[in-house]
Amino acid sequence: MGNTTNIHFRAETDDDNIVWLHFDKADGTTNVLNAEVFKQLDLHLQQIAARRPRGLVILSDKSNGFIAGADITAFTKVTSKRQALEFLRMGQDVFNRLEALPFPTVALIHGFCLGGGTELSLACRYRVSRDDPGTRLGLPEVKLGIHPGWGGSARMVPLIGGLKAMDLILSGRSIDGRTGRRMGLVDMVVPERHLREGARKMVLDAPPPHQPAWYDRLSNHLLVRPLLARIFARQVEKRASKRHYPSPYAMIDIWRKYATDKTGMLEAEATSLAQLITGATAQNLVRVFFLQERLKSLGKDNSWNPKYVHVIGAGTMGGDIAAWCAFRGFHVSLQDQSPERIAPAMKRAHALFMRKLKRPIKINEAMDRLMPDHKGIGVARADIVIEAIFEDADVKRSLYRDIEPNMKPDAILATNTSSIPLEELASALSKPERLVGLHFFNPVAMMQLVEVVNGQSTSPAVLAQAMSFTRKIDRLPLPVTSTPGFLVNRILMPYLMEAVMLEAEGVPAVLIDRAATSFGMPMGPVQLADTVGLDVCLHVAEILADHFNAAVPERLKKLVKDGNLGRKSGHGFYDYKKGKPVKPRVGSGNWNMEEIGNRLVLRLLNEAVCCVREQVVADRDLLDAGMIFGTGFAPFRGGPMQYLDAIGASVLQEQLKTLRALRGDRFKPDQGWGALIKSSGGEQA
Ligand code: NAI
Repeated sequence: MGNTTNIHFRAETDDDNIVWLHFDKADGTTNVLNAEVFKQLDLHLQQIAARRPRGLVILSDKSNGFIAGADITAFTKVTSKRQALEFLRMGQDVFNRLEALPFPTVALIHGFCLGGGTELSLACRYRVSRDDPGTRLGLPEVKLGIHPGWGGSARMVPLIGGLKAMDLILSGRSIDGRTGRRMGLVDMVVPERHLREGARKMVLDAPPPHQPAWYDRLSNHLLVRPLLARIFARQVEKRASKRHYPSPYAMIDIWRKYATDKTGMLEAEATSLAQLITGATAQNLVRVFFLQERLKSLGKDNSWNPKYVHVIGAGTMGGDIAAWCAFRGFHVSLQDQSPERIAPAMKRAHALFMRKLKRPIKINEAMDRLMPDHKGIGVARADIVIEAIFEDADVKRSLYRDIEPNMKPDAILATNTSSIPLEELASALSKPERLVGLHFFNPVAMMQLVEVVNGQSTSPAVLAQAMSFTRKIDRLPLPVTSTPGFLVNRILMPYLMEAVMLEAEGVPAVLIDRAATSFGMPMGPVQLADTVGLDVCLHVAEILADHFNAAVPERLKKLVKDGNLGRKSGHGFYDYKKGKPVKPRVGSGNWNMEEIGNRLVLRLLNEAVCCVREQVVADRDLLDAGMIFGTGFAPFRGGPMQYLDAIGASVLQEQLKTLRALRGDRFKPDQGWGALIKSSGGEQA
């Protein structure tokens, strides 16, 4: 056996004269691609080519996967289109050399094989994948506001046809090895123990490389492409507008022009990507990626290993929290006042498991982990008790007095309260330091964020445990102080109330929502209020009203009084049919859409500035993270504070002043603007 090594790669040659090139990035736990890695890979490929082995197998020595993609930190350092182009061409050249090797080449894939990882594997003649759901292949670049640039589309499109390839590229979704095999992306799927043998066999047998079926080829035909391109664009439009997210549209154009011209497609991939990478959307989406990593890292302490969760209150929130915890592998007992009150939650849990787990054995296992427990027996064995009963401080305190003596001495008590300061609840406990807030968002299975509320008596250890628990159930923890509305509802509420006021002034709800979605919100505020439930909105609005210099709009009170609670009651600002709002077609007429948008966004920003000043979260980045993952705040804008910087604090403060003069004190600029203007080097107003 001959061996050569440099810091990221190790090549060994076996008795069959097959070179096994091990990738083990020196300074990290995950294999990613950057300029240095490309240089070393290139060097290896040159040496291997000169040796003329029987074949080459590229594999990863990292336990978590093959290659997770490009090193995303490199994106933030790209400052010019020319620099981006150089980097992209460098990667393309290396992959072109890999593809041109005159002997069989195999990518041996386990775990993550994403973005640049999939692009590298596509430059190999064959792909052998581990057979497990944890092995994921895909091109998720669109999620970062870009598209493949190292030949991912140029090679995938001819390999499996335009229809399948564009579906993967435009959705950014990842697939397991078996699905890859069915699509023609993967040549062999084997269990872990046969991986090496599988790759060896591929080299020794050297079968003809995969050829797409006639219908897959047809989807790339010159005459079919314009029609398919229109269909792709229509599908993308449902999720992302061209103005805000240009990358999938650029990808469709490239495919339509070059699907069967690989050289043209490679060149178009690189030039288009160089343009996108330096644009605001990609830079902000990369920022969102890092914000997410930051939230994840806040819960990475693994010294606590809870197994048993007890949830009290099987209503909208408690029922779904219990189901989610069982889905994520915890043993959960679910308590309410009677078995009848628990039954609907069990039914919803079953539906969730069916949707997520699909296989009957897995669904049954998850159901076995979730125990209805109306007597509350589970309290005694629980490592964490989550309380999600009525929003009433007396009721909550009385429950705490009952359960605390039965709790394990080191168990923590988490409340899902959305408005009661923890200090008011902690007074009922003999160990107030064990109380923490875990404020989930509705619907629990969809909303990634959990506000972890740090009460004045919460101990730092309990706060850390609550954050690590949040990660263990695959949610993102955001530490917030115990102030009314915490962070997300507090910032959202003035925006929602402004929408209610606009509607009461006669602006059609559809137009109010349109102003927000054109700003980039995933859903307009009127529809959002209906979805959250107008009773829930009213309750939070009443708690926060004093703080906002604005009374709770009468229109909201009346709707709730009349039983029009939004989607759940079938009527709210909109009427609902099968859970969907019936939206009349309305043109913008004489309404000033710019002012409508400004009124909504400025109230939100003003409250965000106030939260920064009051340090509801530790810094501005955490505020942006909270609003993006808790409300879907236009991700391509990078969060409220990032948007504020992009427009300029003094410009926005002036707009607030103008609106205050026109519309009243609810637009009074918060004191925090002064400090922001100063820190950005502007004049303090
Ligand atoms: P809900 O009214 O749907 O459910 C509350 C459940 O608690 C009911 O099933 C009730 O029978 C049960 N319950 C009341 N007292 C109990 C007791 N002493 N022992 C056992 N069970 C008892 O309420 P929802 O909406 O699930 O809210 C629960 C908590 O979550 C509240 O604190 C609320 O502020 C908070 N929250 C609600 C959100 C929402 O969107 N609905 C979002 C985030 C937090």
